[in-house]
Amino acid sequence: MWLAVLLFDMDPASSPSTGIDRDHRSYQYYRTEVDRHWDPADVDLSADVEALLDAPEPALDGLRGALAKFGAGEQSVTADLAPLAVVLDTIEDQSFIATQLYEEAKHADFFDRYWRDVITPVERERGLELTSPTDEQWFDPDYDELFERQETFLDALLTDDSPRARARAYSVYHLVVEGIFARTGYHGLQTVYGDEIDGTPTLPGLVEGIRLIQGDEGRHVGFGVSKLRDLVHEEGVDPDLLSDTVGELAMLVQGSLADSMDQDAEDPSADVDVDLVGYAMEKHAERMEEITATDV
Ligand SMILES: [Fe+2]
Ligand SMILES: [Fe+2]
Repeated sequence: MWLAVLLFDMDPASSPSTGIDRDHRSYQYYRTEVDRHWDPADVDLSADVEALLDAPEPALDGLRGALAKFGAGEQSVTADLAPLAVVLDTIEDQSFIATQLYEEAKHADFFDRYWRDVITPVERERGLELTSPTDEQWFDPDYDELFERQETFLDALLTDDSPRARARAYSVYHLVVEGIFARTGYHGLQTVYGDEIDGTPTLPGLVEGIRLIQGDEGRHVGFGVSKLRDLVHEEGVDPDLLSDTVGELAMLVQGSLADSMDQDAEDPSADVDVDLVGYAMEKHAERMEEITATDV
């Protein structure tokens, strides 16, 4: 009799709910962060300093502009995400957002460390004027506008937590800033500062840091895509709202990238960016198909 009861209790189908759906996509993204945790302080940056001591000045300039933009971008996504943590109410989504906030803080930390431990020592050693990643010279109006829109759309959730408002927030944050802008930029930086392109310095520490960041960003974009899919299929949000929002903001991404290229005409890395917008838009089209498809 006792044995029979024990066996019955061991049947998984009879297990009581423990409050967390461990098969939920958001929970599984949270678990992946726990399993693949990395520390920005552990990335070895010493070879990058050596490589940049001899790099041509336009190449150093192009690199500083990119680092400033992506460092500030990571700070903005860290600062702007909190309204989603307020409106999402399941433990699985809360767990995921907690990891995303933590990861964005780590990304911002990596770029801050790179400036302190690589750029400043290189500038000092080369006798250049010391610069800051917060200097206005690195930014352009399209860049500023893009991140202002992000803040506006995320903050709007605090007063209007409707399906349309959520769709706009995920569109600017997860599809445009993370899915197009960051993906374009990070893919470009890995290409330019890996060892594939002649004439640009090889920076293994930067490439490794971006590889780790990109691993995190894949989960962030995946989360946004799954939420937009739910909004379209379960809450009746018109996919045109997503396309219109992304189309308008993608112009700002292109404008900001074009501005970088104009300023860095002598920087060999500038030529690479042109193809990247096409690359990112192709990936974006695949995501839109995933959001709107009815047979997934
Ligand atoms: Fe990030
Ligand atoms: Fe992210």
